[in-house]
Amino acid sequence: MGYTGPLFDKDRIFTNVYGFQSPDLKAAQARGDWDNTKALMAAGPDALIDIVKASGLRGRGGAGFPTGMKWSFMPKEPKPGKPNFLVINADESEPGSCKDREIIRHDPHKLIEGALIASFAMRARACYIYIRGEYIREAQALEKAIAEAYAAGLVGKNAAGSGYDFDIFCHRGAGAYICGEETAMLESLEGKQGRPRLKPPFPAGAGLYGCPTTVNNVESIAVVPTILRRGASWFAGFGREKNEGTKLFQISGHVEKPCVVEESMSISFRELIDRHCGGIRGGWDNLLAVIPGGSSVPLVPAAEIMDAPMDFDGLKAVGSGLGTAAVIVMDKSTDIVRAISRISYFYKHESCGQCTPCREGTGWMWRIMERLREGDGSPELIDKLYDVTKQVEGHTICALGDAAAWPIQGLIKHFRPELERRMTERNGGAMLEAAE
Ligand code: NAI
Ligand code: SF4
Repeated sequence: MGYTGPLFDKDRIFTNVYGFQSPDLKAAQARGDWDNTKALMAAGPDALIDIVKASGLRGRGGAGFPTGMKWSFMPKEPKPGKPNFLVINADESEPGSCKDREIIRHDPHKLIEGALIASFAMRARACYIYIRGEYIREAQALEKAIAEAYAAGLVGKNAAGSGYDFDIFCHRGAGAYICGEETAMLESLEGKQGRPRLKPPFPAGAGLYGCPTTVNNVESIAVVPTILRRGASWFAGFGREKNEGTKLFQISGHVEKPCVVEESMSISFRELIDRHCGGIRGGWDNLLAVIPGGSSVPLVPAAEIMDAPMDFDGLKAVGSGLGTAAVIVMDKSTDIVRAISRISYFYKHESCGQCTPCREGTGWMWRIMERLREGDGSPELIDKLYDVTKQVEGHTICALGDAAAWPIQGLIKHFRPELERRMTERNGGAMLEAAE
C-alpha cells in the first residue's frame, strides 16, 4: 500500500476545522460526533486498542510513537490506590504549530469523545487536558464543550450510557514551553515547577502522582472516534506503510496562502503547497529552505524538500523530521542565519535549567549564532559551534537539548558558505585566519 493521492473532502476527519459551523454539541452531533458512542465502546478495551494499533496511528505531537502500542503499556487491572490516568497534551507551543488550537476552537467534541473512548480503552477513569496558558479563548471553548458533554450525560457517571464512569478536566498551563514535555507536564499538573523527569520510567509505569499514565497529543485523541467509525483499514489506506493516515499540516511563512489543512500523509511537499497554499511567494525558484516539522527539526534546502513525502520516513530521509507537521517555508528574502539564531534564542529562553549541557549550551550556542549573524569570527568559530551542538545533543534529560542543537546543525550542514560569506564581507573581502 502506498500514497494514493490527496484527500477529498469526504475523507476529512476534521470537517469543521475552519469554524464554518458551530462548535456546539448540537452541531457536532449533526456532523456525526457522539453518534452511538456506547456501541463503539461495546467492543471492549482490548479490541479498541487492537483497532487503533491496526490503523497505524502514530503520535501526532511530534515524536510519532505508535499510539495503540502506547495504550497497551497501561495496566489492564489497575492496583488499588494506583488508578490509570489519561493526560492530553494541549500545551501546543512548538514554533510553527497551530493545529491543536483549531481542533479545540472548532471541533472540541471530537477531542472529548476521543478522550472518553481512549480512557475506557486504557481503564482510566479520569482525563486531564493540559492546555497552554496563552490559549485563553481555546480554554474557554473547551470548558464550554466539557460542560455541554456533562449536561448531556456524555461524560460523568454512566458516560454516554456505557455504564462507565468517567471525568474530564481542563487544566491551564502558565506559559512555559517545557511543560509540553510529557513528564514536565505531569510535574506541573501535580502543582510543582514544570521540570522534565528522567525516563525511564516512562509515564505508563510511573506517571501522574506515580500512577500509570498515558500522555497523548490532542490530534492523536481527536482522530480516534472517526477511526473506530470508519474502520482501521480506512485510516490505514492513506499515506504509506508505517506512515499511515491523515494529518493536519500547518503551513506558515512565504507561501501565497498560509493555512492549516488536513491532508494524506506522504503527500509530496510540492503537491501540498501547490494544492493548498497557492505556491511559493514569488514562484518555486524563490524557495530557499523549509523547516518541515516545527522549530525542533533541521531545515531542508529547497532542492531536497521539493519531492520529499511529507511523512515520518520521507522527512527523515532528507535529514529532518515530520515533528508536528508545522511547515515553515522560507523564500530567498529570508536571512537564514538570523532565523536560526532567533530559534536558538527561543530554546535558551525556554530551557528549564536543570541539566548543565542544556542550561549552559543553549546560551553558548545562541551567543555564537549572534556572532555568526554579524559575520564575526573565523571559520574555526563555525567548527566550535558545531562541536558545542554535539556536546549538547544526546546529553540532556529531555529532548529540548536536541531540539536546540539540530536547527544549528542543519544550518551549518546546508548553509556553511553563507556563514563564511558574512565573515568575508565583514572583513572587507578577506577571511580571518586567526583562531578565536
Ligand atoms: P519521545 O520519543 O521520548 O517519546 C514519545 C512518546 O513515546 C512518549 O509519550 C514516551 O513516553 C513514549 N515512549 C517512548 N519510548 C517508550 C518506551 N520504551 N516505553 C514506553 N513509552 C515510550 O519523544 P518526546 O520527548 O515525548 O517528544 C519529542 C517530540 O515532541 C519532538 O520530536 C518534537 O517534534 C515534539 N514537540 C512538540 C511540541 C508541540 O507543541 N506539539 C513542542 C515541543 C516538541
Ligand atoms: Fe531542562 Fe534543558 Fe535539561 Fe530539558 S534538556 S531537562 S529543558 S535543562
